Amino acid sequence: MLLPDDVELTLIDSTAIAARVAELAATLNDDYEGSENLIVVGVLKGSFIFAADLTRLLTVPHQVDFVALSSYGDSAEHSGLVRLIMDTRLPLTGRDVLIVEDILDTGHTLDYLKRNFLSRGPKSVRSCVLLHKPSRQEAHVSIEYLGFEIPDVWVVGYGLDYADRYRTLPYIGVLKPSAYGR
Ligand code: IMP
Ligand code: MG
Repeated sequence: MLLPDDVELTLIDSTAIAARVAELAATLNDDYEGSENLIVVGVLKGSFIFAADLTRLLTVPHQVDFVALSSYGDSAEHSGLVRLIMDTRLPLTGRDVLIVEDILDTGHTLDYLKRNFLSRGPKSVRSCVLLHKPSRQEAHVSIEYLGFEIPDVWVVGYGLDYADRYRTLPYIGVLKPSAYGR
């Protein structure tokens, strides 16, 4: 497939993504069997494609909701400060909450979200994260369901962006360091 100019290589192709998403869904269907109050909360915007693919493979009853958080902005730098800019519409009290996130980098986003959700009296809070950069993690936060571990590179596609571009590439590609000033 012809890569856009700023994309160096394909890290995970669409076939490998689909296979892993199916495995994750199968595990979730087992683990949440019997749960009557599962709510899947996608973190916008990066998880929208992952959340759509994953939830369509769930056979356990569930509802879908979304939150939006403040991001790094258009650069790869960040402050560790996270802010909720759009909350779920459905209440989380008494629910089995599954957070669906695109990537865990420093971990500050997921750490903030888990603490925030835990303060609302849910039955459980777990996370399903597509990508993890272990070498970058700062916050002590656990991932219960993980897609892939990746090295410290900037990835785009399958929902992930750089400056809000490349989100709809069907594969996960590595951005050329020249494109984000490294
Ligand atoms: P954390 O709080 O540092 O874990 O950051 C998580 C958020 O940073 C993700 O939800 C993404 O929006 C963004 N992010 C971190 N690394 C990448 C990447 O390689 N590509 C695209 N977005 C990224
Ligand atoms: Mg994100």
